[in-house]
Amino acid sequence: MVFFHLFTPLVLCVYSNVFSASAWSVNNFLMTGPKAFLTYSSSVQVGAQSGIAECKHQFAWDRWNCPESALQLSTHNGLRSATRETSFVHAISSAGVMYTLTRNCSMGDLDNCGCDDSRNGKIGGRGWIWGGCSDNVDFGERISKQYVDALETGQDSRAAVNLHNNEAGRLAVKATMKRICKCHGMSESCSIQTCWLQLSEFREIGNYLKLKHDHAQKLEMDKRRMRAGNSADNRGAIAEAFSTIARTELIYLEDSPDYCVKNASLGFLGTEGRECLQSGDNLSQWEKRSCRRLCHECGLKVEERRTEIVSSCNCKFQWCCTVNCEQCTQVVTKHYCSRRERSNPHSKRRRHH
Ligand SMILES: *[C@@H]1O[C@H](CO)[C@@H](O)[C@H](O)[C@H]1NC(C)=O
Ligand SMILES: *[C@@H]1O[C@H](CO)[C@@H](O)[C@H](O)[C@H]1NC(C)=O
Ligand SMILES: *[C@@H]1O[C@H](CO)[C@@H](O)[C@H](O)[C@H]1NC(C)=O
Repeated sequence: MVFFHLFTPLVLCVYSNVFSASAWSVNNFLMTGPKAFLTYSSSVQVGAQSGIAECKHQFAWDRWNCPESALQLSTHNGLRSATRETSFVHAISSAGVMYTLTRNCSMGDLDNCGCDDSRNGKIGGRGWIWGGCSDNVDFGERISKQYVDALETGQDSRAAVNLHNNEAGRLAVKATMKRICKCHGMSESCSIQTCWLQLSEFREIGNYLKLKHDHAQKLEMDKRRMRAGNSADNRGAIAEAFSTIARTELIYLEDSPDYCVKNASLGFLGTEGRECLQSGDNLSQWEKRSCRRLCHECGLKVEERRTEIVSSCNCKFQWCCTVNCEQCTQVVTKHYCSRRERSNPHSKRRRHH
């Protein structure tokens, strides 16, 4: 399946980094042996994939649409920059891993963890007490930290930014949790309720982090101090720059490149050839403006393409037991960004043989 193929770089990256850690930390990490390690690994993989799938959904109609080139989470090769977009990739990936492991835990998929019942029986607020099965986010958070944060091995500002965004992603999982309550008391009088905390749908976490992306802050480092060079000074400058930023906010270091144009060295394809939405039921404002954003504002035009789709229709059930259908042809119109014709005809002169 294409889906899996796309995400192998990220997943391999997760694996190789864990395995290449020092013997001590690997042993420490395995805790209950290789079996537990493998159990978590498959969930980590599923979680990272769901994070990337959500990224693709959230950015479907943006110039940057979460391409494969963005999925290499590790920065040890120094190629990746810390832009607004990569801040989202980090946050949604670590959130996805935490989310999946937390769910696994509540579903009883894992031997060594279960619901968080640490507060059960205690008074939560007026008219309600803690009870039931609260999702064990602390467990998911811990494992997500061990796997995803292990990818950042550097001591520099870039690694610090990535770790910050990983944590912002995990905090988003907590911030979007919902309190669910059940009524008790005589004949459902609801005089007392028991409540527990439950994860939101992952889509909601995606929406939440997309807003954080929109308001991401650029981290301003003290460049003079950084250039002075010794590592204590560097750490001091990094700590100072972070001191003003809330842990829940996404941050970046470098301005984004122009995603309109293809940049092979950065692995971006540009918006030429991208589909955009011009009509349709229930388009959001953001979707309605997609042709302007992807095509017009990038110096491209919108090209309409019609395709015929043949499908079964008017199916009738006949006694007994067949279904007869007709073949219907439907014309579907789609819109794509395409290059404007050059105004100068000489530039398109054909070569004759
Ligand atoms: C954890 O959950 C994911 C998605 O729901 C599932 O694919 C995976 O198999 C689960 N892990 C375990 C160990 O059951
Ligand atoms: C690609 O991006 C790099 C780094 O931002 C930049 O220096 C270069 O000019 C870009 N190339 C093109 C063709 O835009
Ligand atoms: C459009 O949205 C409205 C309200 O949000 C909903 O009731 C309706 O079913 C939607 N229509 C389609 C075609 O999705």
